[in-house]
Amino acid sequence: MKAPRCMPMPPEKGFSLSPDEVHIWISPLDYPEQRLSDFASTLDGNEHARAHRFYFERDRRRFVAARGILRTLLGRYLGECPDGIQFSYGARGKPTVAGPDRLRNVRFNLSHSNGYALFAFTVDREIGVDLERIRPLPEASGIVSRYFSPHESALFHTIPMNGRLDAFFKYWTCKEAFLKAKGDGLSYPLDQVEVELAPGGGAGLLRIDRDPREASRWSLRDFVPIPGYAGAIAVEGHDWSLVWPS
Ligand SMILES: CC(C)(COP(=O)(O)OP(=O)(O)OC[C@H]1O[C@@H](n2cnc3c(N)ncnc32)[C@H](O)[C@@H]1OP(=O)(O)O)[C@@H](O)C(=O)NCCC(=O)NCCS
Repeated sequence: MKAPRCMPMPPEKGFSLSPDEVHIWISPLDYPEQRLSDFASTLDGNEHARAHRFYFERDRRRFVAARGILRTLLGRYLGECPDGIQFSYGARGKPTVAGPDRLRNVRFNLSHSNGYALFAFTVDREIGVDLERIRPLPEASGIVSRYFSPHESALFHTIPMNGRLDAFFKYWTCKEAFLKAKGDGLSYPLDQVEVELAPGGGAGLLRIDRDPREASRWSLRDFVPIPGYAGAIAVEGHDWSLVWPS
């Protein structure tokens, strides 16, 4: 293991997480060479190996930027050097901070879509985020019929045609955010995560595995992080508020 290239510092002002807060950041991922090489210098061997496996250069650069930004933000929350942070990975690939409790208590998740990444941080609660660029998707209705629950599908098909694309990405990001909070990702049946979209906006979990009690342990928020994108976050418990520090 290489030695970190900076002295660990106390967490910076604005980077203190209280247990009832969830911090969310959004960032572009396309950076000039110098900045990118600064990010790359913070990555570990595993991340460099992953970066080199990307077929397209643009995807490689965006991966490096996202991991570099993640390490920078985590470094500020933890008071650690970005290149000194170590990750461990769950059975389905969910990354968490490795090390003593002080570090592991900070939970995070990230999502990228079309040149942007969303990062979420909290303390001692499972968390998942999803970001999707809203884009034409002719197969949306077929995906809903085949993979969503019968209840969701019936409601989706009552939505006027001009509202369906937005509704599809709301459902999708909410489901994926929850599955990322659990760490299962899309290995879990999508129809078992039933989401309710309120008519005036807002989203909630209705049933998980047909169980409304399991759904009530979680909270879900959907939002528009930047125009043209859908975002959602799933967090364990209800007594928290969303903070956009940037
Ligand atoms: C997690 C998953 C839904 C992400 O899908 P996606 O829409 O392509 O990606 P997103 O941009 O939203 O999220 C990717 C980020 O989520 C995180 N992540 C990866 N696996 C995760 C998981 N199982 N749960 C939560 N977060 C996960 C990572 O930080 C990843 O970004 P990075 O590796 O570039 O840092 C998808 O990869 C999946 O379903 N994985 C599990 C399926 C599986 O069993 N895979 C076997 C390989 S171990």
